[in-house]
Amino acid sequence: MPVVNDGLGYPISVGYGLGPEIRRFLRERGSPFVVLSDAQRDVLAAARIVAKAPRCKGVLAFPLGERRKDLRTLEKVLDALLAAGVDRATTVVGVGGGVAGDLFGFAAASYMRGVPYVHVATSLVSMADASVGGKTGVNLAGGKNLAGAFADPVAVFSDVRRLETLPFRSLREGLAEVVKAAIVEGGAFFETLETMAAHPFWRWPWVEIVAEAVHVKSMVVADDRLEAGAREVLNLGHTFGHAIERASAYRVTHGAALSVGLRAAGLLAMRTGRFSLEEHVRVLALLALLGLPLRTRVAPDLILAAMSADKKRRAGKLRFVLPLAIGDVEYGVVASERTVASVLRTISQLPDDSSES
Ligand SMILES: NC(=O)c1ccc[n+]([C@@H]2O[C@H](COP(=O)([O-])OP(=O)(O)OC[C@H]3O[C@@H](n4cnc5c(N)ncnc54)[C@H](O)[C@@H]3O)[C@@H](O)[C@H]2O)c1
Ligand SMILES: [Zn+2]
Repeated sequence: MPVVNDGLGYPISVGYGLGPEIRRFLRERGSPFVVLSDAQRDVLAAARIVAKAPRCKGVLAFPLGERRKDLRTLEKVLDALLAAGVDRATTVVGVGGGVAGDLFGFAAASYMRGVPYVHVATSLVSMADASVGGKTGVNLAGGKNLAGAFADPVAVFSDVRRLETLPFRSLREGLAEVVKAAIVEGGAFFETLETMAAHPFWRWPWVEIVAEAVHVKSMVVADDRLEAGAREVLNLGHTFGHAIERASAYRVTHGAALSVGLRAAGLLAMRTGRFSLEEHVRVLALLALLGLPLRTRVAPDLILAAMSADKKRRAGKLRFVLPLAIGDVEYGVVASERTVASVLRTISQLPDDSSES
């Protein structure tokens, strides 16, 4: 059973069928605990398995979803913790995907100025990405993840068995992040994805794949906990991706936008003499085999406008994270608006602009 612990200071267990291990961990901690769960049926079933450990004060379930990742739900969670008699000696166990992790993690970080938090990840996004790095928070009316805290959990459990009930749409969100991590890492990780891409998901070595994605993220995060710089590489594909999401008023999901964003970053890298056509095509082939999109219907000028708004907000130049090779990524690259616009025309759904050079 891989336990990834690359200098983050807390264990991340990845395995198949982790119920007994999670219960043992809670029993050995010895303190009372309360379980916070996404109310989705399969997630709640997973939460009830965790709650079988001794000294459980109960399972509190909340209907979640991106739109409920807000201050109002946070308040409900905090009130429920108080009503359940949770004190600072109680461990809070959050069960669910990335939304649950961000929201419950933030609730635990702020309740009575912080109580210990354990995350049980149930979605691929959460396992491969969101549960690592200690970022928690909620959305404000003005934008995503604008209120939150850096708060490390005491442990993370990623039971890949949970992926069996995950809807494809949600799996896709996670796959895009896994491909991103594989481009950052390169080598055998990327090759494993290339090999597995042709096979149905039930045959994938998910333990290995999740553990590898966690390893990549934790190595980067351990070097740069508060996002001073190096952690930027994890934003590969995200400058374009976020702009596509925003310009579509969030009709395009994060994973779909990221996939197109990874292609856009590859194109921009090629057009600025950084990345080879051969490697670019390898990335495109992988994304396509996984059923991830390579084009968007969102108009190029709208995407560019969303990027410029972002640039203004950051009071600076638009900076990109670009691949130099599969396994080598550069951050802080400034590109001309003309080149960026040409990339946006290529990723547009319009058939005339499909040239890859
Ligand atoms: N903190 C970070 O570093 C970080 C990183 C990446 C993403 N995120 C955040 O993560 C969120 C997205 O995460 P997500 O894609 O997991 O969304 P999510 O938590 O909403 O889960 C997606 C959907 O799958 C359902 N679900 C989860 N696990 C399931 C299971 N095992 N079986 C059946 N259904 C299941 C959920 O109820 C939900 O409907 C975003 O809010 C994003 O901002 C945070
Ligand atoms: Zn992302």
